[in-house]
Amino acid sequence: MQHIYKNTDELLTALAGFFIASARKAISDNGTFSVALSGGSSPKKLYEKLASADYRDQVDWSKVYFFFGDERYVPADDPDNNALMAQKALFEPLNIPEAQVYRVNTSLSPQEAAAAYARSIKEHFTTEPARFDLVLLGLGDDAHTASLFPGTTVLQEQEATAKSVYLKDKDVYRITLTAPLINLARDIAFLVYGATKAAAVQQVLEADKNTATYPAQLIQPLYGNVHWFLDEAAAALLINK
Ligand code: 6PG
Repeated sequence: MQHIYKNTDELLTALAGFFIASARKAISDNGTFSVALSGGSSPKKLYEKLASADYRDQVDWSKVYFFFGDERYVPADDPDNNALMAQKALFEPLNIPEAQVYRVNTSLSPQEAAAAYARSIKEHFTTEPARFDLVLLGLGDDAHTASLFPGTTVLQEQEATAKSVYLKDKDVYRITLTAPLINLARDIAFLVYGATKAAAVQQVLEADKNTATYPAQLIQPLYGNVHWFLDEAAAALLINK
């Protein structure tokens, strides 16, 4: 389902409303809301909006558990660390207790960090398999999402819930949720804006299936819904909209 907005302000307002509705429904139905946050630069304004006076009182944050769709393999205090960005934009302003935030422990080796993160997911979700209420995702201009990058072996992963992935061209490691786990979520919401993403959006949504080249095509929820929150610039090349 595509939701296209004139500009990022309208887009972020709509997604903040969707996030809050998803949280309230999960808390009403099951007593908790488990969400995997996306990283990068796009979602920072969304998190700041959710923590702002207009929104903060609309969710019982004591019932919300935060995970990350992926993490860069950098120290916790590195400016590139996704959890640090969310800490400043969302967790600190809302006084979220540490016990409600599941970070990737990047002081371990990449493989051990992924294994420890997978264990924390397994321990948190009392039901098997783990089903996130909401997974927020971004989209790279190369059609990656989370850290599911073109040409990486994690694209074929069917068993693990989290894996380390080595990006040869950048000589960096990432830790990512795997597509099978993401696809168990009740709701998946992509947040994509800006003209630089237009080609990737069109390829992912309208090109023939080629998940090795367009990994975001792997995101096909088994039971839930996938929503694309786009601004007009990012949706500009879509033929069917
Ligand atoms: C990350 C993200 C990644 C991101 C896209 C888009 O760790 O970088 O999880 O998947 O969503 O790369 O990033 P921007 O929002 O910065 O364009």
